[in-house]
Amino acid sequence: MPVVTCIEDLKRLYERRVPRMFYDYAESGSWTEQTFRENSSDFDKIRLRQRVAVDMSGRTTATKMIGQDVAMPVALAPVGLTGMQCADGEIKAARAAENMGVPFTLSTMSINSIEEVAEATTAPFWFQLYTMKDTDYTARLIERARAAGCSALVITLDLQILGQRHKDLKNGLSAPPKLTPKTVANLMTKWRWGIGMLGATRRDFGNIVGHVDGISDTSSLGAWTAEQFDLTLDWDKVKRLMDLWGGKVILKGILDAEDAVMAAKLGADAIVVSNHGGRQLDGAISSIRALPSIIEAVGNQVEVHLDSGIRSGQDVLKAVAMGAKSTFIGRSFVYGLGAMGQEGVTAALNIIQKELDTTMALCGETSVERLGRHNLLVPSDFEGVWQQ
Ligand code: GLV
Repeated sequence: MPVVTCIEDLKRLYERRVPRMFYDYAESGSWTEQTFRENSSDFDKIRLRQRVAVDMSGRTTATKMIGQDVAMPVALAPVGLTGMQCADGEIKAARAAENMGVPFTLSTMSINSIEEVAEATTAPFWFQLYTMKDTDYTARLIERARAAGCSALVITLDLQILGQRHKDLKNGLSAPPKLTPKTVANLMTKWRWGIGMLGATRRDFGNIVGHVDGISDTSSLGAWTAEQFDLTLDWDKVKRLMDLWGGKVILKGILDAEDAVMAAKLGADAIVVSNHGGRQLDGAISSIRALPSIIEAVGNQVEVHLDSGIRSGQDVLKAVAMGAKSTFIGRSFVYGLGAMGQEGVTAALNIIQKELDTTMALCGETSVERLGRHNLLVPSDFEGVWQQ
């Protein structure tokens, strides 16, 4: 077994162990993938300020997200098809998150259903909602999340239509995978994955299959999105969904200060600054570059979280020092899951926590709450984006 010391190690193992179709699904952005790349490279442009001779004993990475105690400012992001990266992937990721004391967010487009994850865990998880044309179905999803004891609804705002991802189209991405000569040849080299899948609780979209009548294709994310997602979603509808839920709400997919102001006005508990991991509007700015103007606009009115591009504890520290209350990780935990199942997600979380803790110490800080812009050197062109 190779020694795993960083998220890149998990990614290498993940690439070896998971069928190409699902590796490509996670490891791609839309169109030219410029935004996908810049989500990470922009983090690299921020420098950390080293401080010395500071009492670094009694440090903690613990903090709160939407009032909930968390072991570090990291939640598992909603990721579609997680149960195709590894058998019962959502259950395994949720269990790893629970053991670590960080929130797990279940995607509408998950393989394990809301009920299956609830059955397999004890900590309340968060449910991510895509809004469907079929308003009864959307309402039923909300009802199911409530019945399962979910403690927050994460409403995604940046995916009413799917950004084109070349690899998914070429691979004919579906769950379960369609057996073409190419996929069969690739699956035969992934015996570990295959054996796991034979024993999986399910291999299709658990929140959809058996819950909606009269749909033509549930196996493909692309087909389902084009057929079912509500193109008319606007702020009034978002408000109605928030009212229907009645509990804590996180609005995800905000990249512009004007949208952040709207979200804050609606009374969201948190927003997630996100470009969907570079999977939607290619050419959009990176999340970390969008953060300063959003913090300036609403930082004192609503919790601001950030996703897209977090691959290390240093990235978490940079986002929090720039003003984010917390971060979400997607690919970073999926690499671990595909590499080593639940143990791999735990490894990813431990790696990130250790990196965050050590980086905090070397920056002369003992708590997440004390982090701030004084810890960073930020390129001047990160400021004032979109201000005319
Ligand atoms: C769905 O959320 C996706 O980005 O594929």
